[in-house]
Amino acid sequence: MGVREWIKPRAQDWAMRFMDDLRPEAVIEASGDVLEIGFGTGLNLKHYGENVRGLWGLDPMNTLGVPKVERRIERAPFPVERMALRADGQLPFDAGRFDCVVTTWTLCSIPDAEAALAEMRRVLKPGGRYLFIEHGRSRDQGTMRWQDRINPVWRRFTDGCNINRPVDRMVKEGGFELTVLDEFVGKGPRLISSLYRGIALKN
Ligand SMILES: C[S@@+](CC[C@H](N)C(=O)[O-])C[C@H]1O[C@@H](n2cnc3c(N)ncnc32)[C@H](O)[C@@H]1O
Repeated sequence: MGVREWIKPRAQDWAMRFMDDLRPEAVIEASGDVLEIGFGTGLNLKHYGENVRGLWGLDPMNTLGVPKVERRIERAPFPVERMALRADGQLPFDAGRFDCVVTTWTLCSIPDAEAALAEMRRVLKPGGRYLFIEHGRSRDQGTMRWQDRINPVWRRFTDGCNINRPVDRMVKEGGFELTVLDEFVGKGPRLISSLYRGIALKN
């Protein structure tokens, strides 16, 4: 393992903990067999409710042997299968395999988010739910303009994170029915604090 591979999960774990207070509301409604895209360091695991039967955590970042991640997986009250895979290629699951798909602060980082949303929809059962909390495009004109200006540079220095994606539109264009959507400004710099939390259905 190179230095970068060693540092990345540890640095991400540190940075993403600042979002912990928003996790319970985003994932508590998940149930049955759950596919979490952008599993990261497993920070959502302790926030899932008792209706989860099993969780498949998919992320291209390798976290095997990272002690905190291993502990979180061990302590989860349901089986967890971690898979080192990208979500914007074909997923190794049959259509209609999952009851729920979850993403938290992940759509921003997936290079082909449209392809990932299409795969997420494919692997959901009819009537299955996509639960998410994501940062994205601001509704404030001034902030939006800055997001568009800064995004190309931002993306280069943050491992591919985009700050100007219209999350609600992308989910709808991905063929989901958006049944719950909360848009709010979270803490931190305005460029990255426009949050979209929602539940979308595969009809
Ligand atoms: C900002 S982190 C969020 C991690 C985690 N969801 C959380 O809430 O702490 C974004 C995650 O997306 C993952 N990611 C990047 N490209 C991806 C892809 N093509 N498919 C799936 N996950 C990807 C990254 O490896 C990273 O773990």
